[in-house]
Amino acid sequence: MATTAQPKVPDHVPPELVRSADIIVGEEFLTDPYGYMSTMHERLPRLFYNVGSAVGDGWMTISQPLAFKALRDGDHFGVPPLFIFPRDEDNWFRMIPLEIASPDHRKFRNILDPMLSPRGVLALEADIKALANQLLDTFADKGECEFTKEFARPLPVMVFLNFMGLPLDRLDQFVKWVVALIQFAEFDRAKEIMEEIEEYLTTVIDQKRANPDDKAISRIVHATFDGEPMTERDVLGFTFFLFIAGIDTVYAALNNSWLWMARNPDRVKELVADPDNRDLQTEELLRAFAPTFSGRYLTQDLELDGVLLKKGDRFTSFLPACNYDPEVWDNPREIDFKRVKKPILTFTGGIHSCMGGHLARLEFRIGLNEWLKRIPEFSLKPGTAIRYTPGGVVGPDSVPLVW
Ligand code: HEM
Repeated sequence: MATTAQPKVPDHVPPELVRSADIIVGEEFLTDPYGYMSTMHERLPRLFYNVGSAVGDGWMTISQPLAFKALRDGDHFGVPPLFIFPRDEDNWFRMIPLEIASPDHRKFRNILDPMLSPRGVLALEADIKALANQLLDTFADKGECEFTKEFARPLPVMVFLNFMGLPLDRLDQFVKWVVALIQFAEFDRAKEIMEEIEEYLTTVIDQKRANPDDKAISRIVHATFDGEPMTERDVLGFTFFLFIAGIDTVYAALNNSWLWMARNPDRVKELVADPDNRDLQTEELLRAFAPTFSGRYLTQDLELDGVLLKKGDRFTSFLPACNYDPEVWDNPREIDFKRVKKPILTFTGGIHSCMGGHLARLEFRIGLNEWLKRIPEFSLKPGTAIRYTPGGVVGPDSVPLVW
């Protein structure tokens, strides 16, 4: 429940804007995160100072226009180091490009933009379709599967390995790393896991240095800025960040959407009957089930929406709630596959807008299409209890399905 809270807050914060939204770890949130996030507008102001939550005190917006305004304002908003990924202070690496400010940021993005543009990702379409069917082959005839383990996790990992130029035989290991890294419950082990990933990626980077190809890691390794190669730590930081950004988000979006479909068989019929509308269906499901957030801090004082924000204040754009902003969408809680397209915040906005947005949409669209062709009717396995583990990416732990 959102309640008026009492803890210490900075003097410049108006008391009426201090709230305690019990997000990420709260019981109500974990029971039904999208029920919670889609109704935040009924309980909270569009900009408030959130206190007492496990994710730390600071400003939070649930307004789509305010979030876009903040995310596009690199003069006042910076990206803080991502605390959930602990790194060795003496041998630091930057999570590239998210932890890089303008103008340097652009030169890093330029390296992979051609691969990740709407045209660039189409080159991966046939492979993604084949990978989705390879997974479906393993369970379509069985009449049941644990969707997370058998489809939602392996699909983005396989696509990612392919995109990066890594062998598919590392699939299981990658899945284990991803699952452990995104859950706060495993935070104590995060450093150890990060070291394991670093060790593996370092070996691969050396191999790509010796044997170039046209995949992402090789392009990063061989990129030059004004004739100079990137530092080794930056090569690692870029490769590492792609790994974090490109896998768990897609898995969570798939998991949330398939859970919704399993609970809404009539709506699945609508999807099956309209295969030519997959782009809008994908966009609408990604609007409704945005799995992550954008954290910033104020680099200088700013008045936003009539409120003074001070240098150093933390600021979160709570993207899933922004996608349900009633100022922007009619009946935001209704999943409407004919909705007029408007900018969603699932992939955030501004200079740090998701580099993988087109790839993620493609993976989602192909996953949806191939699945519905082969499994057009499905439901949750009877007796299933859906659980969410607190973390920076919101998605159910498992989705057992039957058909
Ligand atoms: C449904 C899937 C995905 C979602 C919901 C998602 C969401 C996001 C969000 C919200 C951000 C911005 C974070 C911030 O503002 O603090 C972001 C950034 C980023 N994402 Fe994604 N992402 C997805 C898939 C992918 C994929 C598949 C890739 C890689 C191929 C990727 C690569 C990146 C990168 C590199 C950035 C940083 C961009 C920058 O700082 O300039 N993402 N993503």
